[in-house]
Amino acid sequence: MIIMRSITEQGHTFEEWLTPDMIARDVKQVADHISRDYKDKEPLFIVVLNGAFVFAADLIRAVDKDLHCEITFIRVSSYWGMATTGKLEFIVPLQQTVTDRDVIIVEDIVDSGLTIHQLKAHLRALGASSVKVASMLFKPEKLEYDDAKPDYVGHEITGEFVVGYGLDFDGFERNLDAIYKAKKS
Ligand code: IMP
Repeated sequence: MIIMRSITEQGHTFEEWLTPDMIARDVKQVADHISRDYKDKEPLFIVVLNGAFVFAADLIRAVDKDLHCEITFIRVSSYWGMATTGKLEFIVPLQQTVTDRDVIIVEDIVDSGLTIHQLKAHLRALGASSVKVASMLFKPEKLEYDDAKPDYVGHEITGEFVVGYGLDFDGFERNLDAIYKAKKS
């Protein structure tokens, strides 16, 4: 008999969807892909806080030991102003120069793609030579910005809300070692 692990957060039930072993396989596959693509380059990983910190910690240790790379962190909040174009607010600003760098944005999940869409434009404007995206999860059905489609994806998911492995529900459940999906009622 398979016993499904589940948790409850603020009255919502979440069931285990990706086990730690499955996550480790996904991370390895993404890391191998990046190691091959950036073999002769010197990428700068830009980790989008808070959610991506767990994925980033595993990813950076899973890439090839010979990959000469750097890692830095930002925290952004994207919102819509009066105009039709979104504006990106830096809560933790970028502390590294990206001019002429091959940048890999590390995200926990790409949903509408708004955050990535804006971040990519910002990094290009700062003179990055290339900007790619590695995301642990991707919700293709929810994507609204074509240029935000991640280049490296751990796992695709339909529209459901997920928690764990860095992903939160109102700030909680980031510490779970597996990824849990909201149970359909
Ligand atoms: P986007 O800008 O619409 O792509 O939103 C991306 C951000 O929304 C992620 O970095 C997460 O912080 C949050 N997010 C989207 N879907 C989920 C989810 O299922 N669980 C937890 N956070 C999510």
